[in-house]
Amino acid sequence: TTKILFDTDPGIDDAMALFMLARDPRAELVGITTVFGNASVDTTTRNALSLRERFGIHHVPVARGAARAIVKPSSGYADFVHGQDGLGDVGTAPAENDTLDGRAAALFIIEMARRYSGELVLVPVGPLTNIAHALQIDPDLPRHVRGVVLMGGAFGTLGHGGNMSPVAEANIHGDPHAADLVATADWPVTFVGLDVTHQIRMSTAYLDEIGREGGVHGHYIRGITRFYERFYEPRTGGGIYSHDASAVACALDPSLFTLRHGPVRVVTDGIACGQTIQRLPGHPDPSPHWDGIRDQAVCVGVD
Ligand code: BDR
Ligand code: CA
Repeated sequence: TTKILFDTDPGIDDAMALFMLARDPRAELVGITTVFGNASVDTTTRNALSLRERFGIHHVPVARGAARAIVKPSSGYADFVHGQDGLGDVGTAPAENDTLDGRAAALFIIEMARRYSGELVLVPVGPLTNIAHALQIDPDLPRHVRGVVLMGGAFGTLGHGGNMSPVAEANIHGDPHAADLVATADWPVTFVGLDVTHQIRMSTAYLDEIGREGGVHGHYIRGITRFYERFYEPRTGGGIYSHDASAVACALDPSLFTLRHGPVRVVTDGIACGQTIQRLPGHPDPSPHWDGIRDQAVCVGVD
């Protein structure tokens, strides 16, 4: 099994990814950390606690994380994608057991990394603020972590761009400085970005089948995806992109994906703020921006 720490801003597709982590026997979920993003951190934390209870994973600690990006002022929440309550406004009840881990997310991440030194895979599927805070507090963190498999980025390989701007994907755009810190730290990062998640669609018929055949959890997931589907419909022609669960899939079985290697940087201001750039061998650049930066993996194809 793979020991996974899930850093999330639930979020409809976050909820689907969490359900996968709760049920896939290849995953050992050791903690959930929350971050602002699709909604405020108050809301995403309430949702994480509620989903933990709903999915029956009471033993997994939830630690609350960052309310805002390191530098960039907030550009608002994605209530038009995920609903006012972040979970499609179907009336998801708050958890009865709303006990949080006492530690802030960044400290929780650091302690888990040390407890499972060499084994832990971080799977962030929201803005990367908590991971960046952990790196700032503990520069040794990369030595203890096996890898980072994140949902984020848009590298333009499909010929189209971001979902927050012509070049920026939402999680990276939410905290570009944090993303650049994570991308350039000395640990292996895999970017599961729009290049592949826009190829991983769940059709309306498939979602309906989940609702019909998937028991009580399938019914719930079909319910919350209706709001999400209304946003995605004009873009997908029906059905949804399955962003965050794709990062979970990649963490559990990278062989499903085609990877491209090269260092990655993130643009932190200006018109291209939040753009992810991977330098390939054919890209000359006399600037010092790439000096000493290790190769990372970018998903460019998927089965
Ligand atoms: C990402 O942004 C959020 O809206 C989703 O939960 C996903 O993590 C997709 O760009
Ligand atoms: Ca998310």
